[in-house]
Amino acid sequence: MEQRLKELETLAIEQVEQAQDLKALNEVRVAYLGKKGPITEILKGMGKLSAEERPKMGALANVVRGNVAEKIEAKQAELEKAEVAKKLASETIDVTLPGRPAPTGNPHPLTKVIEEIEDLFLGMGYTITEGPEVETDYYNFEALNLPKDHPARDMQDSFYITDEILLRTQTSPVQARTMEANQEKGPIKIICPGKVYRRDDDDATHSHQFTQIEGLVIDENISMSDLKGTLETFAKKMFGEDREIRLRPSFFPFTEPSVEIDVTCAKCGGKGCSMCKGTGWIEILGAGMVHPRVLEMSGYDPKKYQGFAFGMGPERIAMLRYGIDDIRHFYTNDQRFVKQFNRV
Ligand code: PHE
Repeated sequence: MEQRLKELETLAIEQVEQAQDLKALNEVRVAYLGKKGPITEILKGMGKLSAEERPKMGALANVVRGNVAEKIEAKQAELEKAEVAKKLASETIDVTLPGRPAPTGNPHPLTKVIEEIEDLFLGMGYTITEGPEVETDYYNFEALNLPKDHPARDMQDSFYITDEILLRTQTSPVQARTMEANQEKGPIKIICPGKVYRRDDDDATHSHQFTQIEGLVIDENISMSDLKGTLETFAKKMFGEDREIRLRPSFFPFTEPSVEIDVTCAKCGGKGCSMCKGTGWIEILGAGMVHPRVLEMSGYDPKKYQGFAFGMGPERIAMLRYGIDDIRHFYTNDQRFVKQFNRV
């Protein structure tokens, strides 16, 4: 029996040493020290021994059990430590690893140009006003001195919803609305950015939907030189300090006199090239002195108040500025196009 106990001890210790993980170790523990294990079996068989052998064997069995238990405990501590170390190693964070770049969006080039123009006029004391895109015939045309059947309506083919309601063809109705809504009939200084719609066939320079920014200044003693000074400041800020502007006579039913404003060509500096069709000038906007009829219709006394108005197309300005050759690029939203304006 003594022999058997010694053998068991060696065997158990050997298996404890070989245990690779806590699970294996536990199996060894159950196998040797458990209720059905060989040591327990031996202790159960002690009744057969002589009275003098019994305590000797009992003590030996307990020593063997103690030794095995001690080895298991030591091994357990060792394995637990190794497991923690393994976990730590697998979970370490390498703080020196470069981060994964998060994809970020960027403002649309048109939004950028509109915001830049807004900032410029805000800096000159203008406020931003908006109006509806679904507009009445009255504000879009009639209040702007374009009575029904006026031939100048042909300049702006319209999307009519009913006989009296249409998608606005210009931001100018916001002029009429603002003047009409002004109870004191006092000074006004606004810009009105927004979408407009015209029944055009889309091509490189036409789009059935585009944007405009309207400007309106109403006050006493406003003259054409205020208009010129304001738009010259705008053109130089937008296109470069070395640019010149010129006023060319034109026609808009709601302004009198009406002008179109040209800026010297960026490409040739005014000498004449393909971009400016040999003229040295590029048209950037329409403008004029608010027609006395328009003032009157909105409740202003044209003897006391004068005003100037201007309207520009941000698409055109962006196209000139960045050399964009097709207006449709603004609306097809090809990311390769939009992303190019990330840093400009
Ligand atoms: N609304 C005009 C257009 O769309 C532009 C304009 C605005 C002209 C204000 C004069 C004054 O063509």
